[in-house]
Amino acid sequence: MPTAIVVYDSWYGCTQTVAEEVARGLSADGRIPTVVTNVRDTTPEQVLHHEIIVIGSPDHFGEPTTRIQALLRSLRSRDLRGKRFAFFDTCFQSDRGKVTAKMEAALRDRNPLISPPFLQTSVVVEGAHGPIRPGEISKGRALGQMIRTSLALPV
Ligand SMILES: Cc1cc2nc3c(=O)[nH]c(=O)nc-3n(C[C@H](O)[C@H](O)[C@H](O)COP(=O)(O)O)c2cc1C
Repeated sequence: MPTAIVVYDSWYGCTQTVAEEVARGLSADGRIPTVVTNVRDTTPEQVLHHEIIVIGSPDHFGEPTTRIQALLRSLRSRDLRGKRFAFFDTCFQSDRGKVTAKMEAALRDRNPLISPPFLQTSVVVEGAHGPIRPGEISKGRALGQMIRTSLALPV
């Protein structure tokens, strides 16, 4: 049975909230054990214990945070065969999709399972400190459900 990890960075709590929603969507039918962890509290080895790896970051000047970038660099050097990735970010309306595209690009050539249209979502925040824009939070759970139905296949 595949297991999933949702690993995120968060300065003000918005991306953590989305991560918890993604995990709820992923584990909704009880078939995919799912853990949620702050990137500060995990290692690439621990991330790679799981078949389904969801990575979330706030948008910092159009990039993932330095900690998420470091995780991606570290994952790039590992054996990623069979691993299934999805991505999310929190950002302003105008910057939707930029950071998830960069996260995807950081791993794509190392894992043929990541091919467009890759599973990703951008959740819009109202300001640099949040809050999450009303109505946007449901995108987190929807991403988890989409991953569950489309990625939880034998590899
Ligand atoms: C240093 C810094 C730079 C940022 N740059 C951008 C940016 O270029 N584009 C954008 O959409 N949001 C930017 N933001 C706002 C983030 O999207 C927002 O802080 C984040 O979604 C909040 O997530 P968090 O509560 O998990 O930290 C920036 C925030 C910080 C702190």
